[in-house]
Amino acid sequence: MKLIVILIVILIYFGEANAGDIEWILNDKESSPCLLADMNIKVNFSYNASSDFNRQKSLYEIPNNLTKVDLVRSYCNDTESFLAVNWEHGNIFEITFIKYNKSYELSKFHVSLNATDILKDISDNKTIEIMYERLVNDSSFDTPANFSFHCNREQILNSTNNDGSSIILSKVQFEAFRRNNNKDKKFSLAKDCESNFKPDIVPIAVGLSLIALIIIVLIAYIVGRRRQQARGYLNIM
Ligand SMILES: *[C@@H]1O[C@H](CO)[C@@H](O)[C@H](O)[C@H]1NC(C)=O
Ligand SMILES: *[C@@H]1O[C@H](CO)[C@@H](O)[C@H](O)[C@H]1NC(C)=O
Ligand SMILES: *[C@@H]1O[C@H](CO)[C@@H](O)[C@H](O)[C@H]1NC(C)=O
Ligand SMILES: *[C@@H]1O[C@H](CO)[C@@H](O)[C@H](O)[C@H]1NC(C)=O
Ligand SMILES: *[C@@H]1O[C@H](CO)[C@@H](O)[C@H](O)[C@H]1NC(C)=O
Ligand SMILES: *[C@@H]1O[C@H](CO)[C@@H](O)[C@H](O)[C@H]1NC(C)=O
Ligand SMILES: *[C@@H]1O[C@H](CO)[C@@H](O)[C@H](O)[C@H]1NC(C)=O
Ligand SMILES: *[C@@H]1O[C@H](CO)[C@@H](O)[C@H](O)[C@H]1NC(C)=O
Ligand SMILES: *[C@@H]1O[C@H](CO)[C@@H](O)[C@H](O)[C@H]1NC(C)=O
Ligand SMILES: *[C@@H]1O[C@H](CO)[C@@H](O)[C@H](O)[C@H]1NC(C)=O
Repeated sequence: MKLIVILIVILIYFGEANAGDIEWILNDKESSPCLLADMNIKVNFSYNASSDFNRQKSLYEIPNNLTKVDLVRSYCNDTESFLAVNWEHGNIFEITFIKYNKSYELSKFHVSLNATDILKDISDNKTIEIMYERLVNDSSFDTPANFSFHCNREQILNSTNNDGSSIILSKVQFEAFRRNNNKDKKFSLAKDCESNFKPDIVPIAVGLSLIALIIIVLIAYIVGRRRQQARGYLNIM
């Protein structure tokens, strides 16, 4: 009895622990997630300060906890998924994913910052625009269909117009084009950027350690019971 309770508690714990807080989720018409994304985003750019003739450098980190998915503009269709996210006063980022035959790509990443809102020393009412477009031969974000993409290390997306600005991503996980009518707000198995397509080892490791744990608990229980019986105690469950 106790054993079963312990096992159930362990199973629930592992189940819940896996359901992390995914920052941005977009649902399809059946209200199943079709696009999920989570990452830290820094924007590296320079600008003309009002007080100074030198260009100033800035590294701005997008405050994830203030962001909201723009549900009007974001969409998922069979070939294209578009995530638009807003925060505070007119700040926006947008990611476009494109699906090919058996895989999909992060195709565009656009950030538009309200300079007046995020910088103290700028006089004009300006926006800072950074646009990244994937080069045809770049496969850094190639993801097989039905998988998510995962990358912990920093990845730098250089601005396409070569103005020296860039978008710096870290702790990235995303999944686009999910079509399995699964209402779970969880990522599918991940392709990790550090491997040449090997599905994320983590779920397998968790499964194996769970099995090991169950076996250990079972052995301990059986051994314990044998000892008790050998000593002739009355066994009250
Ligand atoms: C910033 O100032 C430089 C000259 O110092 C000028 O060439 C450049 O066009 C300015 N950039 C913007 C965005 O105003
Ligand atoms: C958002 O996160 C920052 C730092 O991570 C924290 O200082 C701030 O209080 C948080 N804001 C909200 C609304 O949770
Ligand atoms: C997906 O949406 C994009 C942009 O609105 C559009 O160009 C494309 O034709 C759509 N594709 C499908 C299959 O509906
Ligand atoms: C930019 O930010 C400033 C200050 O927060 C605000 O007054 C202005 O309306 C914002 N601009 C846009 C386009 O939202
Ligand atoms: C997708 O498949 C079609 C036919 O099966 C092929 O002509 C096309 O080149 C493929 N596209 C890519 C990007 O692999
Ligand atoms: C900045 O631009 C926004 C929209 O373009 C406008 O609503 C706001 O009043 C402007 N702010 C200033 C200080 O000019
Ligand atoms: C992609 O092609 C461009 C030129 O078209 C080249 O400069 C670049 O190094 C290539 N990148 C990769 C990852 O092969
Ligand atoms: C991005 O830009 C930096 C410096 O401007 C350069 O060293 C780096 O090679 C660029 N990365 C790519 C993928 O083009
Ligand atoms: C920001 O970009 C500049 C070049 O434009 C580079 O020298 C600097 O190291 C970058 N900063 C970070 C934190 O990557
Ligand atoms: C992805 O999963 C769906 C449904 O689960 C399946 O119909 C489809 O064939 C899969 N696609 C690939 C490329 O495995």
